Amino acid sequence: MNLINGKEVAAKLKQDIAAETASWVASGGKRPYLVAVLVGEDGASQTYVGHKEKACREVGFDSRVVRLDAGISESELLEVIEGLNRDAEVDGFIVQLPLPKHISEQRVIEAISPEKDVDGFHPENTGRMITGLDAYIPATPDGILELLKYYQIETSGKHCVVIGRSNIVGRPIANLLSMKGYPGDCTVTLCHSRTANLKEVVRTGDIVIAALGVAEFVTADMIKEGAVVIDVGITRVKSDTSKNGFKLLGDVKFDEVAPKCSYITPVPGGVGPMTIVSLMKNTLKAARRRSAK
Ligand code: GUN
Repeated sequence: MNLINGKEVAAKLKQDIAAETASWVASGGKRPYLVAVLVGEDGASQTYVGHKEKACREVGFDSRVVRLDAGISESELLEVIEGLNRDAEVDGFIVQLPLPKHISEQRVIEAISPEKDVDGFHPENTGRMITGLDAYIPATPDGILELLKYYQIETSGKHCVVIGRSNIVGRPIANLLSMKGYPGDCTVTLCHSRTANLKEVVRTGDIVIAALGVAEFVTADMIKEGAVVIDVGITRVKSDTSKNGFKLLGDVKFDEVAPKCSYITPVPGGVGPMTIVSLMKNTLKAARRRSAK
């Protein structure tokens, strides 16, 4: 069994982005500027946004967090977004999800200018991505592709089983792995809560991507000997033994599944750190694209 070390790969790729940024700025390019919009006080979202700010500093980007009260109305939030769309200094921005219940995430995503949509959530970017055009690829699917490439994991002709059909992970990664060329050319099955005989289907996967958001759902009896297992889950559960009072669990029961795998990602330290790198990649791309105009 080979452990996929996302933390180590992310650190290396971040160094590459820092070097690219330094030479871009030295040659007169505009320093990339990322803004994160954070609505409310959700603990996990605050942590993620904190990680994104830290990564910006590390690679040499400017960044800012716009903190808004949980009670902000949808139209007020849409005005903030319009302001960021117009702000010539801002290369890219994200609105951290989830949003409070009274705000439509879809309306918010569609309000973001596709050129500044470094999350790659706008339908224009989704459409461009699935037709193979240049687009911002969402961070988690892109992070998974980077891990497959880094470990030179064969994908051509493999059966990839994706569990979970979210717009952020399941659907895009299923699409990307079916694309022509490496790391694609997979035969893909996209499973979800209504899939019949789920265990049997997952057991046929050469590559299994668990992205359903149910802690320790994937057990050893669902995994074929020698499979590659990518765990996208991050469920926070209370823990008496950890400093901050909680621990993170993946969608895979790691201890029993790992011995059967050729490669597996741990949680934490697998896909998670890679998502930040992908966001940095997209932000550098945004800054370059805007200068080219
Ligand atoms: N919430 C969980 N993952 C993400 C992400 O990649 N982007 C945003 N904006 N919110 C998230």
